[in-house]
Amino acid sequence: MMYKSIRGMEDILPGGIRAWQSLERIARIELESNGYSEIRTPILEETAVFSRSIGDTTDIVTKEMYTFVDKKGRGLSLRPEGTAPIVRAYVEHSLHRISNQSRLYYIGPMFRSERPQKGRSRQFHQIGAEIIGSSEPQMDAEIIARLSDLLKLFGLEAFQIKLNSLGCKDDKDKFSGKLKNYLKGKKNKLCADCNNRLEKNCLRVLDCKNEECVKIVKDSPDIADNLCGRCGEHFGKVKMMLESYFGVQFVESKKMVRGLDYYTGTVFEVTHPDLGGQDALGGGGRYDNLVKEFGGPNVGAVGFAIGIERVFIALGDKKDLFGSPGLVYIATLGGDAKIKGRKLAEELRLRWNGFPPPDGRLYNLNVVTLLDWTDASLRSQMRSADRNGARVVIILGDDEIKQNKAAIKDMENKEPQFLIDIGSVVDEVGKRMGLC
Ligand code: HAM
Repeated sequence: MMYKSIRGMEDILPGGIRAWQSLERIARIELESNGYSEIRTPILEETAVFSRSIGDTTDIVTKEMYTFVDKKGRGLSLRPEGTAPIVRAYVEHSLHRISNQSRLYYIGPMFRSERPQKGRSRQFHQIGAEIIGSSEPQMDAEIIARLSDLLKLFGLEAFQIKLNSLGCKDDKDKFSGKLKNYLKGKKNKLCADCNNRLEKNCLRVLDCKNEECVKIVKDSPDIADNLCGRCGEHFGKVKMMLESYFGVQFVESKKMVRGLDYYTGTVFEVTHPDLGGQDALGGGGRYDNLVKEFGGPNVGAVGFAIGIERVFIALGDKKDLFGSPGLVYIATLGGDAKIKGRKLAEELRLRWNGFPPPDGRLYNLNVVTLLDWTDASLRSQMRSADRNGARVVIILGDDEIKQNKAAIKDMENKEPQFLIDIGSVVDEVGKRMGLC
């Protein structure tokens, strides 16, 4: 019997892991250095955490959650997104007592039972960030700028940021009434789902992908034209700050409401032309009522999430530029050579990776050392170096060591191997790998 992974849930194999690690490392350094701290919440939550926040009429909650009843009869769900669990944790642990603004980030798998296709899987991964504790427009601008900066650091250029505002709860309610009136007259042209949405949560009709519904929605009123004075001013400031303070380009997208109910005020989505049907690289917005609704203080919040798989699709071949650290293969012939080889491997890692990290700081993985401990012949060790994709091979034999020498073979330029002083090996490897 041969088992396979569940459709829409993929293994990430060693051959492809470097790009993931590099992307995650870039995100961590960028977010940490901007004052965001990592938060890790469980993958399972009580179903209500999601149904109360994302909304029990949304597609995510009605169709896409992996939900089950455990042995104690509790309804549990695999997290379809990261924001609701973070708000749950923020309230549960009273994080507002620690800081008036919590800047948090997370990286990890999310689960939605959608029909798998390019850019859409059932287990996918997000990098997300949230600022909880403030309703100021500065935070909206900061979070959108952070999202844009991250995507640029990943090597993406051709993305577009779409921006809209849904206004406060009152604005959303008033606008829903207006939209409902408009849609009522066209009820029989709307799909069955939208007829349902019309009664329960008519803003959701604006997300429908059905061709007829999209046509009808095209001429519907726009939510951003129906904002109260305060929300209009807030949105104006966000746009001004993005332009003048951060220099972030965006386009207004008046029909965009996003597929989660917790949003109020600013919402945004980033699209990329190479993604095809599933064109959102990431998205987010403000959710000023959620913390209070979860039993916490009355504080505003705003955040974003990026879909990692979609970043890779958009990067295409550029993904390989994340590059693997070069492999230094140390071939040894004899007992002294093995001892010297182990020391050399450590010196190489310390010099080029800063490992072990002197004070817990992040270190770079620039070189990987593979010490051949076997008693195999040099020929067989060289074959193994080649198969493992070595960039440089250091050949240590007891005879060479007696003269304080080692042989170096550069596997990329295929030049003949040459002898150098053992004391120069670490520098020589660095030079060949472009590290100095
Ligand atoms: P979302 O728009 O539902 O927002 O998801 C964010 C991103 O996750 C999407 O733009 C997409 O790149 C990726 N994504 C979503 N579903 C899938 C899927 N089935 N397969 C592959 N990638 C997918 C949220 O999740 C919000 N929590 C964002 C947020 C944070 N809002 C405020 N703070």
